[in-house]
Amino acid sequence: MQRYEPLPALNLPDRQWPSRRLKKAPTWCAVDLRDGNQALVEPMSVEEKLSMFRLLVQLGFREIEIGFPSASQTEFDTARALIERDLIPENVTVQVLTQARGQLIHRTFEALEGARNAIFHLYTNISPMFRQVVYQTDEAGCIDLAVRQIAMIRELAAHRSDGGKGVRFEYSPECFTEAEPEFAMRVLEAVIEEYGASAEDKIIINLPSTVQKTLPNEYADRIEQVHRFLRGRENVILSVHPHNDRGTGIAEAELAMLAGAERIEGTLFGNGERTGNVDIVTLALNLESHGIASGLDFSQVDRVRETYERCTRMHVYERAPYAGDLVFTAFSGSHQDAIRKGLEYQRNHPEDVWRVPYLPMDPQDVGRNYEPIIRINSQSGKGGAAFVMQTRFGYNLPRAMHPEFGQLVKREADLLGTELPPERILHLFLREYQGVESPYCLEDVRIAEGGTAVYFDGAIRVGGTSRAIHGEGNGPIDAFFSAMRGEHIDGFTFVSYHEHAIGAGSDAKACAYIQLKYQGQDVFGVGIHASVSVASIHGVLCAINRALNKYDGRSRQEAPQAISENPAT
Ligand code: KIV
Ligand code: ZN
Repeated sequence: MQRYEPLPALNLPDRQWPSRRLKKAPTWCAVDLRDGNQALVEPMSVEEKLSMFRLLVQLGFREIEIGFPSASQTEFDTARALIERDLIPENVTVQVLTQARGQLIHRTFEALEGARNAIFHLYTNISPMFRQVVYQTDEAGCIDLAVRQIAMIRELAAHRSDGGKGVRFEYSPECFTEAEPEFAMRVLEAVIEEYGASAEDKIIINLPSTVQKTLPNEYADRIEQVHRFLRGRENVILSVHPHNDRGTGIAEAELAMLAGAERIEGTLFGNGERTGNVDIVTLALNLESHGIASGLDFSQVDRVRETYERCTRMHVYERAPYAGDLVFTAFSGSHQDAIRKGLEYQRNHPEDVWRVPYLPMDPQDVGRNYEPIIRINSQSGKGGAAFVMQTRFGYNLPRAMHPEFGQLVKREADLLGTELPPERILHLFLREYQGVESPYCLEDVRIAEGGTAVYFDGAIRVGGTSRAIHGEGNGPIDAFFSAMRGEHIDGFTFVSYHEHAIGAGSDAKACAYIQLKYQGQDVFGVGIHASVSVASIHGVLCAINRALNKYDGRSRQEAPQAISENPAT
């Protein structure tokens, strides 16, 4: 026996949505305090709901479903607290949901007393399964239920102190996607007619995929059918309310916009029944990443997350689009390399559109830093370690050094089998390139200039013995090499020198990167000192020490014979 089957598809051969492009943002309605809240293990308290409400207002939501006031005392009290404490800004409309039952509708109006702008949201279920299994009614009975309640709502609204002026109306046919398309149209038209919708008092028709059972293109077809063929469409604000059972809530919402939806109901980070409602953070930032202003402010997405996680006790998944901990992070070497180049390109072309590989959006646009974009484990490549050194600690390693340092970092990560935190990368770097003081350790450095010559005078310790060394050259490095020649150090060729400042103000130091060639191999050393000349000399000596240790087989304790014959003065 076959247990499952797809819903019948709508025949809409001249569909237009596939060739449309998104041009503007919809009206957003946040349903976190109702659909999101009703799905929580522990529903929010009144104060938590108020915190979330404040957040939603700050983010720019102008329509916020605050609850289901007839469902519980907390829901009722939240509405009262918002109204009585005057917490609803003038440009914000609060929305409340009710089922189609007289008593519940009365209670909902009580909860709304004194609200300046409100949307009264009624839902009835119209799917064949509900008609048969839950309501035990036919199509006519189903339409009748919706229509009768609207008449009551109209009347109660008229009895408000504002004569109903501050109240708009929304109708949702629950399980819309499961209902026969032709029947759904009849229900909607009956509701619109009963409400008496007009250009001045439009009705919101909200079409939910209560349980997502269709493909996004099928949902879009259903929306386009309503958009194009609904009688009274001109007096309707067409809203959608996707859920996410098939994991395609975002796709549904985006295709629905192409198909004519003007308004979207969803929640932050997709909280909601089962697999959730559509995630408005993603939807809004998807629009922004196409250059379309969303009207919502997610420039500090971590702060949004913080309030959301505190109030809902839910967790934002590490890979949640735009907001997850890992979504602006690359571990893989080739990605890291491309990102580093892209960021460099972007720095040099700030006027250009965003062109950084593997990053669909500038992390700074959602309040994230560049620093943790590249994190280092054994998958990482040469560019990654250099990127961390640059962005975290201000060391601009010359490109020629990247492969060797990358290998070093990779080996360490492989050995540990974990991610390497930035501090460990810095430690590795300094230990390997800067702190090598054996076999030769520079104890004293003096540099003087005279005419076109530079003179080096210093003391060097080797094998436990110190001695003075002297040299002359056309620059400090040249003078030092000449001093070291007296130590029988030869076979080194100078290849390159890079230098930059580390730190700022009186604490600033020079960092010099020296590249030498020894026995056909490139060898690097780094010197850090307040004086540029001294930094470069330290860098040269580090490179020499590393080369001798590595290629000459001299251990740190072993002094070369020639040198021990030369006692210190
Ligand atoms: O998912 C749904 O159908 C709903 C309605 C009440 C709009 O939440
Ligand atoms: Zn819902």
